[in-house]
Amino acid sequence: CRVQQWDSEEPVPRAELLAGVAGKRGLLCLLSDRIDGEVLEAAGPSLKVISTMSVGFDHLALEEIKKRGIRVGYTPDVLTDATAELSVALLLAACRRLPEAVEQVKNGGWTTWKPLWMCGYGLSDSTVGIIGLGRIGQAVARRLKPFGVKKFLYTGSRPKPESAAEFEAEFVPLTRLAEESDFVVVTCALTPATQGMCNKDFFCRMKKTSVFVNTSRGAVVNQEDLYDALAHGQIAAAGLDVTTPEPLPADHALLSLKNCVILPHIGSATYATRSTMAVLAADNLLAGLRGEPMPHELLL
Ligand code: NDP
Ligand code: DGY
Repeated sequence: CRVQQWDSEEPVPRAELLAGVAGKRGLLCLLSDRIDGEVLEAAGPSLKVISTMSVGFDHLALEEIKKRGIRVGYTPDVLTDATAELSVALLLAACRRLPEAVEQVKNGGWTTWKPLWMCGYGLSDSTVGIIGLGRIGQAVARRLKPFGVKKFLYTGSRPKPESAAEFEAEFVPLTRLAEESDFVVVTCALTPATQGMCNKDFFCRMKKTSVFVNTSRGAVVNQEDLYDALAHGQIAAAGLDVTTPEPLPADHALLSLKNCVILPHIGSATYATRSTMAVLAADNLLAGLRGEPMPHELLL
């Protein structure tokens, strides 16, 4: 292959992408590249394969892509463990107030041991609700179970008895999941059905002592509603690995809250995982260009 590469960790500027894709047969992109009608138009009819170095594909205009007969590769499975691990880390950071506690040590707020100082909420005997019991959702449940979780609830487009059996997880409507969970973990895909799903109504149903964690996509959450819920004590805390927009502006209201832990979309960020994702994305692209089955093709 002859390869034209944007050789930088920074996202390719839109104009460079539009100019560079013209006449190409394949495109390897990142989740930060919006591949819409404009890009497909700029590429022209030569474009046969798009390979994204991500499992999420909400940045791809799938209808347009399908119409043009373009094949799509993505990177499921290889990042599941890393993302589930980060989800657990974020949940613990939020419920046990780790960033706040570290800050107290640094700024002299740690004066002595006090009975209720820096208390949070633990997983033992808790109910955990998973929104989207897919690959990552199941891997999160698998990791949380040994912490002594009493009950798993999940929601999705349909019950998945085979996936749920390992955790004896109960399929419930979103409203019940909000009302009964001590911890809500969002691990669903971003789709028109999930966009803005965690909104005022959802947070109002949650318990005042509950913790909300999102490692899926920022747009699943209505951030204004989340801010209100956190600021007014409607829920105890939140941990977000994904936001809208990304990056979140440093002066964003959510960053002013002590009970909101925000990470810069690092779910899959281990060296080994990112390396495997990159190789898989390249293999998907090459297989697609050869007209062979891809290691992981998204069926459109
Ligand atoms: P899967 O496809 O295995 O799981 C997605 C889940 O979303 C499915 O279980 C699906 O359930 C669920 N879902 C779909 N529609 C709804 C709905 N209306 N309500 C609730 N759940 C729904 O994908 P993965 O687990 O591999 O990845 C999930 C997402 O995580 C990715 O799409 C990506 O956005 C995000 N991600 C984020 C990372 C990070 O760095 N923070 C890293 C990797 C992924 P059903 O089958 O019932 O439709
Ligand atoms: C994905 O793959 O969709 C994540 O958001 C980054 O790894």
